[in-house]
Amino acid sequence: MTAPAVPAWLLDRARETLRQNLVVTADGHRYTRPAPMTYEQQWLWDSCFHAIVNTHLDPDLAQAEIEALLSRPVMEGPDEGMLPHMIYWSGGGTELWGRDDRSTITQPPVATYAVARVYDVTGDTDFVRRVYPTLKAYHAWWARRRDPDGDGLVTVIHPWEAGWDASPAWDALLGLKSPTDAESRAARITLVPKLAALDYDAARVQQVGLFNVETCDLNALYLQSLRSMTRLARLVAPQDVAALQAAADKTARAIQTKLWDDTRGVYVDLAGADELPLPVQTAGTFVTLFAGVPTAPQAARLVARLTDPAQFWPAYPVPSVAMTEAEFAPDRYWRGPTWPHLNWMIALGLRRYGYADIAAELTTRTLALVERNGFWEYYNPLTGVGLGAHPQSWTTLVVDMLAAPAHGADMG
Ligand code: GLC
Repeated sequence: MTAPAVPAWLLDRARETLRQNLVVTADGHRYTRPAPMTYEQQWLWDSCFHAIVNTHLDPDLAQAEIEALLSRPVMEGPDEGMLPHMIYWSGGGTELWGRDDRSTITQPPVATYAVARVYDVTGDTDFVRRVYPTLKAYHAWWARRRDPDGDGLVTVIHPWEAGWDASPAWDALLGLKSPTDAESRAARITLVPKLAALDYDAARVQQVGLFNVETCDLNALYLQSLRSMTRLARLVAPQDVAALQAAADKTARAIQTKLWDDTRGVYVDLAGADELPLPVQTAGTFVTLFAGVPTAPQAARLVARLTDPAQFWPAYPVPSVAMTEAEFAPDRYWRGPTWPHLNWMIALGLRRYGYADIAAELTTRTLALVERNGFWEYYNPLTGVGLGAHPQSWTTLVVDMLAAPAHGADMG
Protein backbone atom coordinates (compact mmCIF):
# COMPACT_ATOMS: atom_id res chain seq x y z
CA MET A 1 0.00 0.00 0.00
CA THR A 2 2.84 2.35 0.85
CA ALA A 3 5.15 3.58 -1.89
CA PRO A 4 8.75 2.47 -1.29
CA ALA A 5 9.92 6.08 -1.26
CA VAL A 6 8.61 6.57 2.31
CA PRO A 7 11.43 5.90 4.78
CA ALA A 8 10.61 3.37 7.49
CA TRP A 9 11.65 5.76 10.29
CA LEU A 10 9.09 8.27 9.03
CA LEU A 11 6.28 5.73 8.95
CA ASP A 12 7.16 4.60 12.47
CA ARG A 13 7.34 8.11 13.87
CA ALA A 14 4.17 9.22 12.11
CA ARG A 15 2.29 6.17 13.39
CA GLU A 16 3.61 6.79 16.90
CA THR A 17 2.63 10.49 16.82
CA LEU A 18 -0.90 9.78 15.62
CA ARG A 19 -1.26 6.99 18.18
CA GLN A 20 -0.08 9.27 20.96
CA ASN A 21 -2.62 11.92 19.93
CA LEU A 22 -5.53 9.50 19.56
CA VAL A 23 -8.62 10.07 21.71
CA VAL A 24 -11.40 7.55 22.29
CA THR A 25 -14.63 9.34 23.24
CA ALA A 26 -17.09 8.22 25.89
CA ASP A 27 -19.34 6.75 23.22
CA GLY A 28 -16.52 4.96 21.43
CA HIS A 29 -15.73 7.38 18.60
CA ARG A 30 -12.06 7.73 17.73
CA TYR A 31 -10.36 10.92 16.64
CA THR A 32 -6.86 12.38 16.66
CA ARG A 33 -6.30 15.64 18.52
CA PRO A 34 -4.05 18.06 16.65
CA ALA A 35 -1.64 18.21 19.60
CA PRO A 36 -1.69 17.36 23.28
CA MET A 37 -2.49 20.24 25.66
CA THR A 38 -2.67 22.93 22.96
CA TYR A 39 -5.41 21.38 20.82
CA GLU A 40 -7.41 18.68 22.60
CA GLN A 41 -10.67 18.95 20.62
CA GLN A 42 -11.57 17.42 17.28
CA TRP A 43 -10.69 20.07 14.70
CA LEU A 44 -12.32 20.02 11.30
CA TRP A 45 -9.57 20.29 8.72
CA ASP A 46 -6.97 18.69 10.99
CA SER A 47 -9.10 15.55 11.20
CA CYS A 48 -9.30 15.43 7.41
CA PHE A 49 -5.50 15.58 7.21
CA HIS A 50 -5.14 12.86 9.83
CA ALA A 51 -7.50 10.63 7.87
CA ILE A 52 -5.50 11.23 4.68
CA VAL A 53 -2.27 10.21 6.44
CA ASN A 54 -4.00 7.17 7.87
CA THR A 55 -4.94 6.00 4.38
CA HIS A 56 -1.28 4.90 4.35
CA LEU A 57 -0.99 3.72 7.96
CA ASP A 58 -4.37 2.53 9.19
CA PRO A 59 -7.34 2.83 6.79
CA ASP A 60 -9.80 1.65 9.46
CA LEU A 61 -8.74 4.48 11.71
CA ALA A 62 -8.94 6.90 8.77
CA GLN A 63 -12.56 5.90 8.30
CA ALA A 64 -13.29 6.09 12.04
CA GLU A 65 -11.86 9.61 12.24
CA ILE A 66 -14.10 10.77 9.40
CA GLU A 67 -17.15 9.03 10.88
CA ALA A 68 -16.54 10.82 14.20
CA LEU A 69 -16.10 14.14 12.42
CA LEU A 70 -19.26 13.79 10.37
CA SER A 71 -21.37 12.49 13.24
CA ARG A 72 -21.78 15.98 14.71
CA PRO A 73 -22.96 18.40 12.01
CA VAL A 74 -25.12 21.34 13.06
CA MET A 75 -28.61 19.86 13.31
CA GLU A 76 -30.78 22.91 13.86
CA GLY A 77 -31.24 26.59 13.08
CA PRO A 78 -30.06 28.63 10.10
CA ASP A 79 -26.67 26.93 10.04
CA GLU A 80 -28.09 23.42 9.77
CA GLY A 81 -25.64 21.33 7.77
CA MET A 82 -22.50 23.26 8.77
CA LEU A 83 -19.55 21.25 10.09
CA PRO A 84 -18.24 23.02 13.18
CA HIS A 85 -14.54 23.82 13.23
CA MET A 86 -14.22 22.22 16.68
CA ILE A 87 -16.13 19.39 18.31
CA TYR A 88 -15.85 19.34 22.11
CA TRP A 89 -16.45 15.66 22.79
CA SER A 90 -16.25 16.14 26.55
CA GLY A 91 -17.73 19.63 26.67
CA GLY A 92 -15.98 22.85 27.60
CA GLY A 93 -16.89 25.14 24.72
CA THR A 94 -19.32 27.42 26.52
CA GLU A 95 -17.06 30.30 27.44
CA LEU A 96 -16.05 30.97 23.86
CA TRP A 97 -19.06 29.73 21.90
CA GLY A 98 -22.01 29.96 24.26
CA ARG A 99 -22.52 26.21 23.98
CA ASP A 100 -20.69 23.26 25.40
CA ASP A 101 -20.40 20.79 22.55
CA ARG A 102 -19.07 22.61 19.50
CA SER A 103 -17.87 25.85 17.99
CA THR A 104 -20.26 28.05 16.03
CA ILE A 105 -18.05 28.68 13.00
CA THR A 106 -16.41 26.40 10.43
CA GLN A 107 -13.02 25.75 8.78
CA PRO A 108 -11.84 25.13 5.19
CA PRO A 109 -13.72 22.37 3.34
CA VAL A 110 -11.41 19.38 3.10
CA ALA A 111 -13.83 16.71 4.40
CA THR A 112 -15.26 15.60 1.06
CA TYR A 113 -11.83 15.27 -0.49
CA ALA A 114 -10.74 13.24 2.57
CA VAL A 115 -13.74 10.92 2.19
CA ALA A 116 -12.79 10.33 -1.45
CA ARG A 117 -9.19 9.56 -0.46
CA VAL A 118 -10.36 7.11 2.21
CA TYR A 119 -12.71 5.46 -0.27
CA ASP A 120 -9.77 5.09 -2.67
CA VAL A 121 -7.97 2.75 -0.29
CA THR A 122 -10.94 0.91 1.23
CA GLY A 123 -13.30 0.70 -1.77
CA ASP A 124 -16.05 0.77 0.84
CA THR A 125 -19.11 2.12 -0.95
CA ASP A 126 -21.27 1.61 2.15
CA PHE A 127 -19.08 4.13 3.95
CA VAL A 128 -19.63 6.65 1.16
CA ARG A 129 -23.37 5.93 1.24
CA ARG A 130 -23.44 6.52 5.02
CA VAL A 131 -21.63 9.87 4.96
CA TYR A 132 -23.06 11.20 1.69
CA PRO A 133 -26.23 12.82 3.17
CA THR A 134 -24.11 14.72 5.70
CA LEU A 135 -21.77 15.94 2.97
CA LYS A 136 -24.72 16.91 0.81
CA ALA A 137 -26.24 19.00 3.62
CA TYR A 138 -22.77 20.48 4.21
CA HIS A 139 -22.41 21.65 0.62
CA ALA A 140 -25.96 22.99 0.68
CA TRP A 141 -24.99 24.95 3.78
CA TRP A 142 -22.00 26.60 2.08
CA ALA A 143 -24.12 27.65 -0.88
CA ARG A 144 -27.08 28.81 1.23
CA ARG A 145 -25.23 30.67 3.97
CA ARG A 146 -21.86 31.68 2.62
CA ASP A 147 -22.44 32.99 -0.87
CA PRO A 148 -24.59 36.06 -0.21
CA ASP A 149 -23.90 37.60 -3.63
CA GLY A 150 -24.51 34.31 -5.44
CA ASP A 151 -21.29 34.47 -7.45
CA GLY A 152 -20.13 30.92 -6.66
CA LEU A 153 -17.37 32.12 -4.32
CA VAL A 154 -17.87 31.41 -0.63
CA THR A 155 -16.96 33.78 2.15
CA VAL A 156 -15.49 33.31 5.61
CA ILE A 157 -16.67 35.49 8.47
CA HIS A 158 -13.88 34.85 10.97
CA PRO A 159 -10.09 34.47 10.56
CA TRP A 160 -10.36 31.07 12.28
CA GLU A 161 -12.63 29.94 9.46
CA ALA A 162 -9.96 30.78 6.91
CA GLY A 163 -7.53 28.60 8.86
CA TRP A 164 -5.01 31.50 8.80
CA ASP A 165 -5.71 32.85 12.26
CA ALA A 166 -3.32 35.77 12.60
CA SER A 167 -2.42 36.45 8.97
CA PRO A 168 -1.26 40.04 8.41
CA ALA A 169 -3.66 40.04 5.44
CA TRP A 170 -6.49 40.45 7.98
CA ASP A 171 -4.97 43.21 10.14
CA ALA A 172 -6.65 46.19 8.50
CA LEU A 173 -10.01 44.38 8.31
CA LEU A 174 -9.85 43.83 12.06
CA GLY A 175 -8.82 47.42 12.76
CA LEU A 176 -5.27 46.36 13.68
CA LYS A 177 -1.94 47.85 12.70
CA SER A 178 1.20 45.76 13.30
CA PRO A 179 -0.52 44.04 16.24
CA THR A 180 1.16 42.00 18.94
CA ASP A 181 0.12 38.35 19.07
CA ALA A 182 -2.06 39.15 22.09
CA GLU A 183 -3.82 42.01 20.31
CA SER A 184 -4.44 39.85 17.27
CA ARG A 185 -5.87 37.05 19.40
CA ALA A 186 -8.05 39.47 21.36
CA ALA A 187 -9.54 40.73 18.07
CA ARG A 188 -10.45 37.17 17.09
CA ILE A 189 -12.08 36.47 20.42
CA THR A 190 -14.15 39.65 20.54
CA LEU A 191 -15.38 38.97 17.02
CA VAL A 192 -17.28 35.86 18.14
CA PRO A 193 -20.06 37.57 20.15
CA LYS A 194 -20.43 40.16 17.38
CA LEU A 195 -21.09 37.34 14.93
CA ALA A 196 -23.47 35.67 17.35
CA ALA A 197 -25.47 38.91 17.56
CA LEU A 198 -25.89 38.72 13.78
CA ASP A 199 -26.84 35.03 13.84
CA TYR A 200 -23.65 34.26 11.87
CA ASP A 201 -25.51 35.53 8.81
CA ALA A 202 -22.90 36.38 6.15
CA ALA A 203 -25.26 38.81 4.38
CA ARG A 204 -25.76 40.80 7.58
CA VAL A 205 -22.06 40.58 8.38
CA GLN A 206 -21.38 42.19 5.01
CA GLN A 207 -24.01 44.86 5.56
CA VAL A 208 -22.50 45.99 8.83
CA GLY A 209 -18.93 45.64 7.51
CA LEU A 210 -17.55 43.02 9.90
CA PHE A 211 -14.78 40.68 8.74
CA ASN A 212 -15.80 38.80 5.57
CA VAL A 213 -13.42 37.56 2.89
CA GLU A 214 -13.60 35.40 -0.22
CA THR A 215 -10.16 33.84 0.09
CA CYS A 216 -8.52 32.23 -2.92
CA ASP A 217 -7.21 29.21 -1.06
CA LEU A 218 -10.48 28.38 0.68
CA ASN A 219 -12.36 28.79 -2.59
CA ALA A 220 -9.89 26.47 -4.29
CA LEU A 221 -10.55 23.91 -1.56
CA TYR A 222 -14.28 24.50 -2.01
CA LEU A 223 -13.93 23.82 -5.72
CA GLN A 224 -11.98 20.64 -4.99
CA SER A 225 -14.71 19.69 -2.54
CA LEU A 226 -17.38 20.10 -5.23
CA ARG A 227 -15.32 17.98 -7.63
CA SER A 228 -14.81 15.27 -5.01
CA MET A 229 -18.52 15.41 -4.21
CA THR A 230 -19.30 14.90 -7.88
CA ARG A 231 -17.17 11.79 -7.82
CA LEU A 232 -18.90 10.45 -4.70
CA ALA A 233 -22.30 11.24 -6.24
CA ARG A 234 -21.41 9.12 -9.26
CA LEU A 235 -20.97 6.23 -6.83
CA VAL A 236 -24.05 6.60 -4.65
CA ALA A 237 -26.33 9.39 -5.95
CA PRO A 238 -26.06 9.77 -9.74
CA GLN A 239 -29.10 12.07 -9.78
CA ASP A 240 -26.96 14.75 -8.04
CA VAL A 241 -24.07 14.71 -10.52
CA ALA A 242 -25.27 17.34 -13.00
CA ALA A 243 -26.06 19.95 -10.34
CA LEU A 244 -22.71 19.39 -8.62
CA GLN A 245 -20.85 19.70 -11.88
CA ALA A 246 -22.64 22.94 -12.65
CA ALA A 247 -21.82 24.31 -9.19
CA ALA A 248 -18.15 23.34 -9.58
CA ASP A 249 -17.92 24.93 -13.01
CA LYS A 250 -19.49 28.13 -11.70
CA THR A 251 -17.01 28.33 -8.82
CA ALA A 252 -14.07 27.55 -11.14
CA ARG A 253 -15.16 30.35 -13.50
CA ALA A 254 -15.62 32.78 -10.61
CA ILE A 255 -12.14 32.08 -9.25
CA GLN A 256 -10.70 32.76 -12.69
CA THR A 257 -12.71 35.89 -13.45
CA LYS A 258 -12.82 37.50 -10.01
CA LEU A 259 -9.77 36.32 -8.07
CA TRP A 260 -7.05 36.29 -10.74
CA ASP A 261 -4.96 39.46 -10.86
CA ASP A 262 -3.30 39.38 -14.25
CA THR A 263 -0.97 42.27 -13.52
CA ARG A 264 0.63 40.55 -10.55
CA GLY A 265 0.10 37.01 -11.79
CA VAL A 266 -1.52 35.78 -8.57
CA TYR A 267 -4.91 34.86 -7.15
CA VAL A 268 -6.09 37.33 -4.52
CA ASP A 269 -8.53 37.41 -1.61
CA LEU A 270 -11.52 39.76 -1.87
CA ALA A 271 -12.86 41.51 1.21
CA GLY A 272 -16.28 42.91 1.97
CA ALA A 273 -19.36 43.60 -0.11
CA ASP A 274 -17.19 45.75 -2.41
CA GLU A 275 -14.84 42.82 -3.01
CA LEU A 276 -11.64 44.80 -2.51
CA PRO A 277 -8.46 42.78 -3.15
CA LEU A 278 -6.23 42.37 -0.10
CA PRO A 279 -2.71 43.62 -0.78
CA VAL A 280 -0.59 41.35 1.48
CA GLN A 281 1.02 38.56 -0.54
CA THR A 282 0.58 35.19 1.18
CA ALA A 283 1.17 31.59 0.14
CA GLY A 284 -2.59 31.05 -0.12
CA THR A 285 -2.36 31.82 -3.82
CA PHE A 286 -0.44 28.57 -4.45
CA VAL A 287 -3.23 26.40 -3.01
CA THR A 288 -5.10 27.02 -6.27
CA LEU A 289 -2.66 24.56 -7.88
CA PHE A 290 -3.96 21.82 -5.58
CA ALA A 291 -7.47 22.24 -6.97
CA GLY A 292 -6.41 22.46 -10.61
CA VAL A 293 -7.62 26.04 -10.95
CA PRO A 294 -4.92 27.80 -13.04
CA THR A 295 -4.27 27.34 -16.72
CA ALA A 296 -0.76 26.14 -17.58
CA PRO A 297 0.51 29.71 -18.21
CA GLN A 298 -1.04 30.96 -14.97
CA ALA A 299 0.55 28.04 -13.11
CA ALA A 300 3.93 28.94 -14.61
CA ARG A 301 3.63 32.48 -13.25
CA LEU A 302 2.67 31.16 -9.80
CA VAL A 303 5.58 28.70 -9.80
CA ALA A 304 8.05 31.43 -10.79
CA ARG A 305 6.91 33.43 -7.77
CA LEU A 306 6.94 30.39 -5.49
CA THR A 307 10.52 29.47 -6.34
CA ASP A 308 11.84 33.04 -6.18
CA PRO A 309 14.38 32.97 -3.29
CA ALA A 310 13.51 36.56 -2.37
CA GLN A 311 9.81 35.84 -1.93
CA PHE A 312 8.83 32.26 -1.13
CA TRP A 313 11.86 29.97 -1.48
CA PRO A 314 14.20 30.26 1.54
CA ALA A 315 16.03 27.27 3.06
CA TYR A 316 12.75 25.76 4.31
CA PRO A 317 9.89 26.79 2.04
CA VAL A 318 7.05 27.72 1.89
CA PRO A 319 6.77 30.79 4.15
CA SER A 320 3.10 31.58 4.69
CA VAL A 321 3.73 35.27 4.01
CA ALA A 322 6.08 36.52 1.27
CA MET A 323 9.45 37.46 2.71
CA THR A 324 9.21 40.75 0.80
CA GLU A 325 6.22 41.87 2.90
CA ALA A 326 6.91 44.41 5.66
CA GLU A 327 4.89 42.28 8.09
CA PHE A 328 6.82 39.06 7.34
CA ALA A 329 7.93 37.55 10.65
CA PRO A 330 9.58 34.11 10.35
CA ASP A 331 8.65 32.91 13.83
CA ARG A 332 5.29 34.54 14.48
CA TYR A 333 2.07 32.59 14.29
CA TRP A 334 0.65 32.82 10.74
CA ARG A 335 2.80 35.84 9.91
CA GLY A 336 5.57 34.07 8.03
CA PRO A 337 6.36 30.53 9.24
CA THR A 338 6.22 27.43 7.06
CA TRP A 339 3.12 25.34 7.70
CA PRO A 340 3.29 21.62 6.84
CA HIS A 341 -0.33 21.33 5.69
CA LEU A 342 0.19 24.17 3.21
CA ASN A 343 3.35 22.50 1.93
CA TRP A 344 1.31 19.35 1.42
CA MET A 345 -1.31 21.16 -0.68
CA ILE A 346 1.35 22.99 -2.67
CA ALA A 347 3.40 19.84 -3.33
CA LEU A 348 0.36 17.92 -4.58
CA GLY A 349 -0.60 20.91 -6.68
CA LEU A 350 2.87 21.16 -8.23
CA ARG A 351 2.73 17.48 -9.11
CA ARG A 352 -0.67 17.94 -10.68
CA TYR A 353 0.80 20.56 -13.03
CA GLY A 354 3.84 18.48 -13.95
CA TYR A 355 6.34 20.30 -11.72
CA ALA A 356 7.52 17.00 -10.26
CA ASP A 357 11.06 18.22 -9.55
CA ILE A 358 9.94 21.23 -7.56
CA ALA A 359 7.38 19.10 -5.69
CA ALA A 360 10.14 16.61 -4.86
CA GLU A 361 12.43 19.40 -3.66
CA LEU A 362 9.70 20.84 -1.44
CA THR A 363 8.98 17.37 -0.07
CA THR A 364 12.67 16.71 0.64
CA ARG A 365 13.03 19.97 2.52
CA THR A 366 9.83 19.38 4.49
CA LEU A 367 11.07 15.90 5.35
CA ALA A 368 14.35 17.42 6.54
CA LEU A 369 12.42 19.65 8.95
CA VAL A 370 10.71 16.62 10.44
CA GLU A 371 13.84 14.47 10.52
CA ARG A 372 15.90 17.10 12.31
CA ASN A 373 13.32 18.64 14.59
CA GLY A 374 10.25 16.41 14.85
CA PHE A 375 6.59 17.04 14.13
CA TRP A 376 6.02 20.69 14.99
CA GLU A 377 2.93 22.72 14.21
CA TYR A 378 4.95 25.15 12.06
CA TYR A 379 8.59 26.06 11.41
CA ASN A 380 10.84 29.05 10.96
CA PRO A 381 11.38 29.08 7.17
CA LEU A 382 14.88 30.55 7.49
CA THR A 383 16.33 28.34 10.23
CA GLY A 384 14.03 25.31 10.27
CA VAL A 385 13.42 25.66 14.03
CA GLY A 386 10.14 24.01 15.08
CA LEU A 387 7.46 26.29 16.56
CA GLY A 388 4.02 26.13 18.15
CA ALA A 389 2.51 22.86 19.33
CA HIS A 390 4.40 19.57 19.51
CA PRO A 391 3.91 16.84 18.50
CA GLN A 392 1.43 18.18 15.95
CA SER A 393 -0.53 15.52 14.11
CA TRP A 394 -0.93 17.26 10.75
CA THR A 395 2.81 17.40 10.22
CA THR A 396 2.62 13.66 9.48
CA LEU A 397 1.19 14.80 6.12
CA VAL A 398 4.76 14.57 4.89
CA VAL A 399 3.96 10.85 4.53
CA ASP A 400 1.31 11.73 1.94
CA MET A 401 3.65 14.20 0.25
CA LEU A 402 5.84 11.18 -0.43
CA ALA A 403 3.17 8.57 -1.01
CA ALA A 404 0.04 10.22 -2.41
CA PRO A 405 -1.32 8.39 -5.44
CA ALA A 406 -0.69 10.19 -8.71
CA HIS A 407 -4.29 11.30 -8.80
CA GLY A 408 -4.04 12.51 -5.18
CA ALA A 409 -5.08 16.03 -6.00
CA ASP A 410 -7.30 15.19 -8.91
CA MET A 411 -10.42 13.63 -7.59
CA GLY A 412 -12.82 15.24 -10.06
C1 GLC B 1 -4.42 26.59 14.77
C2 GLC B 1 -4.46 26.77 13.26
C3 GLC B 1 -5.67 26.08 12.68
C4 GLC B 1 -5.66 24.62 13.11
C5 GLC B 1 -5.58 24.51 14.65
C6 GLC B 1 -5.41 23.09 15.13
O1 GLC B 1 -5.49 27.24 15.36
O2 GLC B 1 -4.47 28.12 12.92
O3 GLC B 1 -5.68 26.20 11.28
O4 GLC B 1 -6.78 23.94 12.64
O5 GLC B 1 -4.48 25.24 15.10
O6 GLC B 1 -4.25 22.51 14.60
